[in-house]
Amino acid sequence: MNSEQLRELLGSLTLEEKVGQLVQFNAGQFIENSLGITGPDGELLPAEDLNRVMGSVLTFENAAQAKALQDQHMAADPKKIPLLLMLDVIHGLRTTYPIPLAMGCGFDDALTAECADMARKESSACGVHVTFNPMVDTARDARWGRILETYSEEPLINGRMGAAIVKVTQGEDLSDPENVACCVKHYAAYGAPEAGRDYNSVEISERMLRETYLPAYKACLDAGARLIMPSFNSLNGIPSVANKWLMNRVLRKEWGFDGVAISDYAAVNELVVHGVADGPEDAVRLAMEAGCDIDMVDNFYYRYLADLVRKGIVPEEMLDTAVMRVLALKNELGLFENPYHGADEEKEKAVYLCDTHREIARRAAEETAVLLKNEGILPLKKNLKHVALIGPFAEDIHLNGFWSRPGAEKDTVTIPEGIRNLMPDLELIIEKGCGAEIGDTDRSGIAAAVQAAASAEAVILVLGEPENYSGEGRSRAELTMPGVQQELAEQVIRANPNTVAVLFNGRPLVLTELEKIAPAMLEMWYPGTEAGNALARLLWGEANPCGKLSAGLPRTTGQYPMPYNRMNTGRPKPEPDTQAFPFTSCYLDTPNLPLYSFGFGLSYTDFVYESLELDRTVITPEEQLQVTVTLRNAGERVGKETVQLYLRDKVASVVRPVQQLIDYRKVSLAPGERTQVTFTVTEKQLRFWDFDCQYGSEPGTFELSTGYADHLILTKTFELK
Ligand code: NOJ
Repeated sequence: MNSEQLRELLGSLTLEEKVGQLVQFNAGQFIENSLGITGPDGELLPAEDLNRVMGSVLTFENAAQAKALQDQHMAADPKKIPLLLMLDVIHGLRTTYPIPLAMGCGFDDALTAECADMARKESSACGVHVTFNPMVDTARDARWGRILETYSEEPLINGRMGAAIVKVTQGEDLSDPENVACCVKHYAAYGAPEAGRDYNSVEISERMLRETYLPAYKACLDAGARLIMPSFNSLNGIPSVANKWLMNRVLRKEWGFDGVAISDYAAVNELVVHGVADGPEDAVRLAMEAGCDIDMVDNFYYRYLADLVRKGIVPEEMLDTAVMRVLALKNELGLFENPYHGADEEKEKAVYLCDTHREIARRAAEETAVLLKNEGILPLKKNLKHVALIGPFAEDIHLNGFWSRPGAEKDTVTIPEGIRNLMPDLELIIEKGCGAEIGDTDRSGIAAAVQAAASAEAVILVLGEPENYSGEGRSRAELTMPGVQQELAEQVIRANPNTVAVLFNGRPLVLTELEKIAPAMLEMWYPGTEAGNALARLLWGEANPCGKLSAGLPRTTGQYPMPYNRMNTGRPKPEPDTQAFPFTSCYLDTPNLPLYSFGFGLSYTDFVYESLELDRTVITPEEQLQVTVTLRNAGERVGKETVQLYLRDKVASVVRPVQQLIDYRKVSLAPGERTQVTFTVTEKQLRFWDFDCQYGSEPGTFELSTGYADHLILTKTFELK
């Protein structure tokens, strides 16, 4: 349709039909009450008028259902406006790849894009029109269980990976049935809830917001994301879905976003609970005034919006603007010509879990694992005959992480399967040892685990946090490994020091006690479908670990929030960090620095950084600077290394971070190979939200370094004139 035809269509709609375009319900509510919904939503069912006017649907299962939903709706809708079908495809649909936080540790935008591309193929075949992805909430506090959904504590990584996902998922042309529209979320600063508790209020200065939280969403919108989801939280006192400053002023006016804004699940309803709306009608008015186009599932628009327009409380032009955005998106997706879009049962069969996708998922799991410690234990010897696999995750099938599709665990390669695939002749004894739940005090399995460890040549000790401990509504106040896992580790390692601790978890955990005793530690996060194969290949050196932490690991939960790019203080703590210095910014009972800093990760080979050279030491705002880092693979294995470039602004009108990642690149080096990585630095990268609350740079001296956070090396300075 051209824009004229779209306007005609809009003009032909009744008030109820217009409102219907802004209403979204769960597929389960829509077809039949399969979700067992009670209360006001339940009463809607099986209302025929709902089916007639409904604009979009959330969460459905497969292509057959997508088509059935569309058929049912099209038959009932006199205006024949197709439904929009939306789904959360966060780290894969049927082929699950590692959780986003792990993908961040890959430090590889191309790998993230490759995974997103595979998700696009599976999603489009399933009939998805819109995915609620990418999530780019910068998170600097792992108490917040949704940290697993983000790529990093660093907005640069979130923005780059988010943009890469948007580009590959939406493609050049959304009407291509293989492409899927992206909804970037959760705007804004959802990752900074007070005390790390999900849904909690966010209080943040405009400077911090502009520098640390907003850029990643902006990067995704600049990449073309067609939808945005305002977050649940209040931001400086105003819930995002009603936050006119955030939505109208920044999003629509400053950034020029003309796509669709969709509330998060029942967030319009929550305006009443927040206490900023005096009842449902008021909530609808507030959300509409903030430009929230679609109301996700809480039925407030459905019930109240038409009346509000009739009464003149919500102007009809405001309604029309919102409806037009939704119609424009449907049109862009080509739904008027092809309401099924890509839904195709045959294609589903062909792409789901196909060999190519499994290979990508396995490689992603290998390249996002982070080797934290290795005292000569890894890689394991190929001639081992007798290995013990011990720990609560030994036979667990829940290795996919939050947002994996229901049933995805059935397709997951378990750890024993992965080990047997690679080492078929190995004798593998499996002992669970203990559970991993909070409050799990059962020690009765430890003795058998110790015996198994003592009789084996090597031990793979799989520890961590249950899959459902991270994700939405899964905050924790204490980030140690739950239950008696540490005791299990102590006894097993005592029985057999040839032990590698492998970790499965969706957030940075406090591993301080484990680190004291474990000779080797490998952080696997939640690796997805190919978990077992990837782990086996990493353990036996078929793959070489190359992940770097995209969020630091704390020594103790009390260090949070713990950003690596912390601001300088007037009383910085002197070295050494192991000692307290009263009246400086430090703790009496723990060092300041994390156990493992942002950017850290080992390899089975050794990389030697030889030099960092600048092509000039003075630049004007119009000029560029080339920074060349030379490194060499001094070990005996091929390996990948992420070269990281950090900036420090020495003097500015406002306090600046002690270190700031401004670029990164992952390179592969053969044994003995030397390579040069050249980054271009421009004035744009030196900008910040300055004294006058403008984005700008200030002349002065800057430092550039490589290495990783808190361990910067080869520093050189330059001047901006
Ligand atoms: C709530 C979550 O906060 C959001 O991330 C998700 O996209 C929606 N539910 C839809 O499932």
